[in-house]
Amino acid sequence: MKAIEIRQKYLEFFKEKGHAIIPSAPLLPENDPTVLFTTAGMHPLVPYLLGEPHPEGNRLVNVQKCIRTGDIDEVGDASHLTFFEMLGNWSLGDYFKEGAIEMSYEFLTKKLNIDPKYLSVSVFGGDDDFPDLPVDNESAEIWLKIGMPKERIGFIKGGVKDSENNWWGPAGQTGPCGPSTEMFYWIGEGEPHGNPNENEDDWLEIWNDVLMQYNKTKNGSYEQLKQHNIDTGMGLERTAAVLQGKKSVYDIELFQPIFDKISSLTTISYSDNPTSYRIITDHLRAAVFMAGDGVKPSNVDQGYVMRRLMRRAIRHGKTLGIEQNFTHIIAKKVIHIMSDVYPALKHEEEILKTFELEEDQFRKTVTHGLREFEKLLNGFQIAFERAGKKITEISGKQAFKLYDTYGFPIEMTIEEAEKHDLTVDKEGFDKAFENHQELSRAGAEEKFKGGLQDNSEATTKLHTATHLLHAALHKVLGDHATQKGSNITAERLRFDFTHPDKMTPEQIEQVEKFVNDAIEADVPIVCDNMTVDEAKDAGAIGLFEGKYGEKVKVYSIEGFSKEICGGPHVEKTGELGKFKIKKEQSSSAGVRRIKAILF
Ligand code: ALA
Repeated sequence: MKAIEIRQKYLEFFKEKGHAIIPSAPLLPENDPTVLFTTAGMHPLVPYLLGEPHPEGNRLVNVQKCIRTGDIDEVGDASHLTFFEMLGNWSLGDYFKEGAIEMSYEFLTKKLNIDPKYLSVSVFGGDDDFPDLPVDNESAEIWLKIGMPKERIGFIKGGVKDSENNWWGPAGQTGPCGPSTEMFYWIGEGEPHGNPNENEDDWLEIWNDVLMQYNKTKNGSYEQLKQHNIDTGMGLERTAAVLQGKKSVYDIELFQPIFDKISSLTTISYSDNPTSYRIITDHLRAAVFMAGDGVKPSNVDQGYVMRRLMRRAIRHGKTLGIEQNFTHIIAKKVIHIMSDVYPALKHEEEILKTFELEEDQFRKTVTHGLREFEKLLNGFQIAFERAGKKITEISGKQAFKLYDTYGFPIEMTIEEAEKHDLTVDKEGFDKAFENHQELSRAGAEEKFKGGLQDNSEATTKLHTATHLLHAALHKVLGDHATQKGSNITAERLRFDFTHPDKMTPEQIEQVEKFVNDAIEADVPIVCDNMTVDEAKDAGAIGLFEGKYGEKVKVYSIEGFSKEICGGPHVEKTGELGKFKIKKEQSSSAGVRRIKAILF
């Protein structure tokens, strides 16, 4: 069954069951600063899931365009996509578990004609960390009642904290969420057996019914929602692939015409290099949809993601030997395949112009970047001639500078480096890149969350110095001396903290000494991802407000500081120079303010 038929059948089926067909929401969430892109169909529906009446009624259905960038580096394999379509039906305080499960099963077996023996399901098996959230026996009973054999029902435990397994949501920090029951299709060898809890690799998830009955509050507790909702999501490409008996999502008919177009531009065939074909197709599909919703390539926020996707696609074009502008040709194809379903793609001319401009600019950038790369090599050569030491590695920082300042992609740096028998510190680059992403995410949230004005070297140094200062204040004044505010410019840091009295000259001296000792010790700054609880257990300080269950970054300066923070930071404290407090004054009642510099 073709994807286009699955879309239609889905909408028709749920329409017959009293659902109003609503359009796909834009990819750019409105009034939601917590994410850059719409990642699920429920996202734009949060107010209605919380109880606000929806103008179309309490049964809704749609096909939602979604972007998830979390697995961007996996794109190119058989299953990962940055852009995908999600089929979803919703009950806003109307039917609940029974209705949702019955309709899902009917659709799968009667409309998609899946033989029930290839299906299995999972239900929420409880979570030891959340004993008040009960095992979902009710859903299991409903499945049994409609004919799902007992051995095909897997109870999967855990996942509440990280919205994994059989727990879904909230989409941001707080909001509607609940246990889920998922449907799986047999992809193992031989006769189907077991269930997703027993032999998970043999069963591929195709549909997720979220049974929304909780609201996660700011303090991390789960309270009953005003109304019980259903939120479902079925990945169109994945479902089409299993129904078509394909091993890869890219083998479905939506992609074939795009592959044909790419193939007409190169002598390298799909089977010779499926990875590049897939990356070009996925990334340009995502970029076309972004452009359709008004995103322009840039260095921040959504524009930054779009630029990165386009440039990676162009680079893979180069791998296939495509040297002339081609992204607009692929974009045109994508528009022709998808614009009937997604009217935002109707501004074809504007979208194509955006593509051509970006590609022109990128090709110039590459020429320029190559020149900078040559300069770097010359520098290595000079160092070798002067000191007799052969540098063999391009540091993460140097690679990131080529990328960030000149737009030179890391893949090209690695490729050029190989030609000159050099290695590249890819890990260092990734770290710098992640810091940058953090910043741009912070930018999307609230330009100034970290109190950091820009990403320059000077502010980054002062940011690391701020961590050392914070730790020093704890040490010298006591644990009450915690951060109340921070603002950093390229010239100075400003740090507000709780403390009732003016600091004495001795205390100021001790704080300066602590920081300068840390600088002199030249300690590396290490970043770890952990849950908020792990961070607290590890003794990290920092702003914990509003952070629950999620993973956070903890920056450690061994022996001196451990703080939860988004970055960025320098690599080693030795880079900071010398630290001096210029002013210590009152900021407000019970809050002191320090201004300090590095020199
Ligand atoms: N919101 C649910 C998901 O994305 C249906 O899986």
